[in-house]
Amino acid sequence: MAAKYAVERAREREERGVVATYIYELAKADPQKAGIAITLANGKTICAGDCNDGVTIQSVSKIFTLALALGAQGDRLWTRVGREPSGSSFDSILQLEHENGIPRNPFVNAGAIVVTDAILSNYRPKEALGELVQFVRSLADDDEIIIDKLVAQSEAETGHRNRALANYLASHGNLRNSVEMTLGVYFHQCALSMSCVQLSRAGRFLAFGGATGAGGRKIVSERRARRIAAIMLTCGHYDGSGEFAYRVGIPAKSGVSGMILAVVPGIASIAVWSPGLDTRGNSLVGTGMLEDVVDQLNWSVFA
Ligand code: DON
Repeated sequence: MAAKYAVERAREREERGVVATYIYELAKADPQKAGIAITLANGKTICAGDCNDGVTIQSVSKIFTLALALGAQGDRLWTRVGREPSGSSFDSILQLEHENGIPRNPFVNAGAIVVTDAILSNYRPKEALGELVQFVRSLADDDEIIIDKLVAQSEAETGHRNRALANYLASHGNLRNSVEMTLGVYFHQCALSMSCVQLSRAGRFLAFGGATGAGGRKIVSERRARRIAAIMLTCGHYDGSGEFAYRVGIPAKSGVSGMILAVVPGIASIAVWSPGLDTRGNSLVGTGMLEDVVDQLNWSVFA
């Protein structure tokens, strides 16, 4: 009921935000689209609207690479990237310069590039991407998840800012692999294509103490799941994280395609999608859908 209601309200909204155009494949998205999927601890997924459309998850991928990098390197990763909210845009160069090449957190682009570089310490680029695809497929129990090569290619062609960030990281000795190799993997991870249903299932482990559901497979420790969720709450919406916590009140990570993955600890994993963005690059209608759902169901991490 809550999912259907959120989509009905989403369809009625006049203000829909602006679709991202700097990755030209994303510019083709229809701002009228709106979908939601909610996966519960018993494994049941409830969905409504355009919840089966495949969409590249963009920055939501940073959650999955963070889990993989922490699995490979543990706390050593935190010597190269911080855990503080940035208060600045996702692709800010200024902050990186001020802070000597140590990105504020793993969810701004610079931080995510460092995380991807950390994964590359154990793998060659193709293997790293293969690992990542396998990881999300296994999380979602769905072998249909793929990388959208056209989107990856269009981002590679226009990724000037990310190249600037990666070069800046390299100049501070905070990149172990070449700029092009690291960005090649980063652009492809952002182009992981999933529907809301698949994404809500892939995100279950963050809602259910590191496991895929009640009595489900253990993916990461409970402590790690909590900590990743903490970073989602404080940093998942960049300079809009405070406002999102105020309005929605649950950990979530947004992507510039208009996808958002949110978790209600112990209760549900929610994916929403609507392509129009607010001024900070987060889905405008998607945030509204989440707000409607948590209001209806009285869900919050603040009791
Ligand atoms: O690197 C980029 O700019 C994109 N692939 C991802 C940015 C993103 O999703 C920001 N989130 N709202």
